[in-house]
Amino acid sequence: NLPTEGKVTWKAPSNIALVKYWGKKTNQIPANPSVSFTLDACATTTTIFFTRKKDTSQFSFDLFLEGKSKEDFKPKIQVFFERIERYIPFLKSYHFKIETSNSFPHSSGIASSASGMAALALCLVDMEKVMNPEMGKDFFNRKASFLARLGSGSACRSIEGDLIQWGEHKPIADSSNLYGIKYPFKVNPVFKNFHDTILLVHKGQKQVSSSVGHNLMHNHPYAERRFGQAHENMENLKTIFSEGNLEGFIKVVESEALTLHAMMMTSMPYFILMKPDTLQIINKIWDYRKDTKIPICFTLDAGANVHVLYPESAKEKAIQFIQDELVAHCENGHYICDRIGNGARKL
Ligand code: PMV
Repeated sequence: NLPTEGKVTWKAPSNIALVKYWGKKTNQIPANPSVSFTLDACATTTTIFFTRKKDTSQFSFDLFLEGKSKEDFKPKIQVFFERIERYIPFLKSYHFKIETSNSFPHSSGIASSASGMAALALCLVDMEKVMNPEMGKDFFNRKASFLARLGSGSACRSIEGDLIQWGEHKPIADSSNLYGIKYPFKVNPVFKNFHDTILLVHKGQKQVSSSVGHNLMHNHPYAERRFGQAHENMENLKTIFSEGNLEGFIKVVESEALTLHAMMMTSMPYFILMKPDTLQIINKIWDYRKDTKIPICFTLDAGANVHVLYPESAKEKAIQFIQDELVAHCENGHYICDRIGNGARKL
């Protein structure tokens, strides 16, 4: 019962890791568990127009980003299709026109791979659901997460909200290396409406792609200890989340961010991904927190931009501080106000 043609659209958010995924085994299996806030404003919207074709010997697709043909992204999609073909058997039976757009500006230094791969995976599972209508919501989300992981590891945390765990962490029977799950433990309401203001310190292309970065964890002198630490931090967060312990949260989250960068500084070859402005922002956040006791903290991706995290109760003061002190360190004064979100949705 394959339809001859049709279209499907999904909007998927980005996410920001609190315990970082850095290092992987084959088949996009993470070397350690991770947990992230799903974001809201930073998102990718993807429409797939599909048309049945006769020749089923190869993949066929066109790709448009913000209306413009994107030849340079095609190899990534080709690899993704090759990886997922055995889970999406109709993939070679269609020509796909993939139209995608991001809510955040071009080359803002914000990676679109998590939201982009999540949106694409959701479109494909949705097509499968047309052919297999009895597919339940849990299976749908898990399959979308499973496929998204094969596109970009962290994308598997971009299907649902608002706090997502990916990776086996004993003794959580339900946790999996294959897909993200909703955080399975009690979470105090203080962590349910967090804000993330993303300071765009450096908007250029990332100096080190995440796949190169993950590979640098092979034969890394501190890898095993780092993976152990991630497990310990997952364990620590359990109590921190349930008690609403903001002080504990800040310690884990900032330490995770700096550890991620420390791993890159101590790999071979080695990299410094922070910029002078990144360090100045971090120092200003520390000074401000010390002076005001306001629970504002930072985390980092594998780049120079800073994610400033704070609870709803600190919103007014935090935004004032960010505007007065931190925005001056952003490239062209650019920053994005985001917050914890509820996951992807069909449009
Ligand atoms: O999903 P990837 O392969 O782009 O890796 C993402 C890695 C970090 O963003 C640095 C950390 C994380 O857990 O998201």
